Amino acid sequence: MELDGKIVIVTGAGLGLGKAIATKVVAEGASVALWDMDLASVEKVAGELDPSGRKVLALKVNVTNEAEVVEAVRKTVEKFGRVDVLVNNAGISRHESLENMTLELFNQVINVNLTGPFLCCKSVTPVMKKQHSGKIVNIASLGARTGRPGVGVNYAASKAGLLGITKVLAKELGPDNIYVNAICPGPILTDQTRQYSPEVFATWNAGRAVPKDGLPEDIADAVIFLASSRSDWVTGITLDVNGGIFIG
Ligand SMILES: NC(=O)c1ccc[n+]([C@@H]2O[C@H](COP(=O)([O-])OP(=O)(O)OC[C@H]3O[C@@H](n4cnc5c(N)ncnc54)[C@H](O)[C@@H]3O)[C@@H](O)[C@H]2O)c1
Repeated sequence: MELDGKIVIVTGAGLGLGKAIATKVVAEGASVALWDMDLASVEKVAGELDPSGRKVLALKVNVTNEAEVVEAVRKTVEKFGRVDVLVNNAGISRHESLENMTLELFNQVINVNLTGPFLCCKSVTPVMKKQHSGKIVNIASLGARTGRPGVGVNYAASKAGLLGITKVLAKELGPDNIYVNAICPGPILTDQTRQYSPEVFATWNAGRAVPKDGLPEDIADAVIFLASSRSDWVTGITLDVNGGIFIG
């Protein structure tokens, strides 16, 4: 197994990609701290993954709240003793045209998608530095790579900013043996993307190289690679996982 005995934090683990990532992480031998602002959803996932509760910890965490993030790190370390991997997955999308984009809506998405990962990185890395090892995987988006329709400036800016954080932290934390990489998923049907019409969703898949639709498990597989020793000379990269919609 790729992550035998590892301790992994997944934010936004109650649904969609986060749930698929947590599921695969446990299947690869790791224990997982499931963080989500919706406690009921992560408690359900925890119960499904390990009814004994030994390899799972469900916590209510709003990633935009520094005190909650710091407390969640404390509880995670209290239960598992260390943190090997942080997956910054929690994210939201609130699309409007520029004309209708309010400052409040802009800031709301920046807060969750950019400030959230910043706070999680800041709070978890002291633990990783003490261990002199760690892997951080940031879930960005194809929306940061292309100006596709139906992606608001708030979302694109937040995810492009996350790629910037990824590159800076790869350099800054590399000497501490901490790896920092990003994944840009293409369109995958989850609660986040169901808010868009099938027509808009279809435009996001336009020009895809392969016939296969993207599944949450495709992103989870990429996370396993970047979280495991298989990627021990890979840091600072953006891994596009999109069936060839965008080839950079
Ligand atoms: N689904 C896609 O097509 C797609 C494509 C590219 C990138 N992404 C990114 O992948 C990630 C997961 O997306 P998804 O489609 O699974 O979304 P989703 O809406 O299905 O699930 C998101 C989860 O994050 C949690 N969450 C939201 N705000 C939070 C906060 N402030 N603190 C803690 N938890 C919070 C939600 O409760 C939910 O459980 C997001 O960062 C998203 O931007 C998704």
